[in-house]
Amino acid sequence: MRIDVLHGPNLNLLGEREPETYGRVTLAEIDKRLVAIGAELSCDVHTFQSNHEGALIEYLHETRKATDAYILNPAGYTHTSVALRDAVIAVAKPAIEVHLSNTEAREAFRHKSLLADVVMGRIQGLGARGYEWALRALIEHLRTDRHA
Ligand code: DQA
Repeated sequence: MRIDVLHGPNLNLLGEREPETYGRVTLAEIDKRLVAIGAELSCDVHTFQSNHEGALIEYLHETRKATDAYILNPAGYTHTSVALRDAVIAVAKPAIEVHLSNTEAREAFRHKSLLADVVMGRIQGLGARGYEWALRALIEHLRTDRHA
């Protein structure tokens, strides 16, 4: 089993970027923990971060046949990218959208996610832990629910 985790723009600065909103955990720490949890549960976790919309889309295209599911935090592109939404539909794999912050409790422009209706589910406002719950949920889904 393989799950790919995509992080969008500015998430490479986690730890130093607006820590009151996003916490002090770095992206490297988040990724390391996800890989470790995956290893415990016999799931290969691959992670990718880009500040470029096209690179995120190409990563989805390139991994679509090799992977079983995605965890997506498209950061600012969540609220703007029709192209990323189209790519998520195109690759046709289960996906969970994750946000560190509770986007609904922030500025109005963050209330709209262009992915919300094309992903399996969403986790937001739980900080870095949200990625872990998403990983566990996807693994359980792949092992059980989809065969139910
Ligand atoms: C974010 C929320 C987005 O609105 C914002 O643009 C980000 C991070 C989050 O994880 O809380 O860059 O996706």
